[in-house]
Amino acid sequence: MEIIVATRNQGKMREFARILEEFGCTVIGMEEAGVDMEIEEDGSTFGENATIKAMTIHKVTGKPAISDDSGLCVDYLDGRPGVYSARYQGEDTPYPEKIAALLAELKDAAPEERTARFTSAICFVGEDSTPHLFEASCEGTIGYECRGENGFGYDPIFYVGERSFAQLSGEEKDAMSHRGKALRLFAEELPQLLK
Ligand code: IMP
Repeated sequence: MEIIVATRNQGKMREFARILEEFGCTVIGMEEAGVDMEIEEDGSTFGENATIKAMTIHKVTGKPAISDDSGLCVDYLDGRPGVYSARYQGEDTPYPEKIAALLAELKDAAPEERTARFTSAICFVGEDSTPHLFEASCEGTIGYECRGENGFGYDPIFYVGERSFAQLSGEEKDAMSHRGKALRLFAEELPQLLK
């Protein structure tokens, strides 16, 4: 089955391809699908924003579409940056600067106060135009420094145990990540959704 992925984020796109191709899906990027548009993410939850993205791409292309809306929720910051993770400190600000600002906000936080989670809402819209949502989280902590070269976004400061997400291989990250878990929930449900 071919599914258009409603994202321009190359890091996310790699994860979609890696995970969904194992389940026999062929993922197509927006560019490859000939879609060039900005989608306004004006929802207040991950689920709302994921639905907006997948429904928009499905309506424009008439094809099955899937999206992810995700973010980093830091307990010490009352859940920020949350749905604003991509826009934290400005949409076009490079990640090293966003990460430095986040670490500065946590400078007085003790180790036990640095708990955080990544959450992902995956929305799939098939031929019948009905949105289906799948949500999952991955618990971790915010470290004191960046470690690792893999992944994208906030991966270098998000630690599960001793290692940051950026120190994991793609397959190791997928096995425990918010996006890996939510995409597997979707893939398990897919045979039912296609009936
Ligand atoms: P979205 O494209 O509006 O859903 O923004 C999601 C943002 O959350 C990304 O741009 C990253 O800043 C952050 N994020 C979500 N998932 C991950 C991840 O797996 N690793 C690192 N950062 C992530």
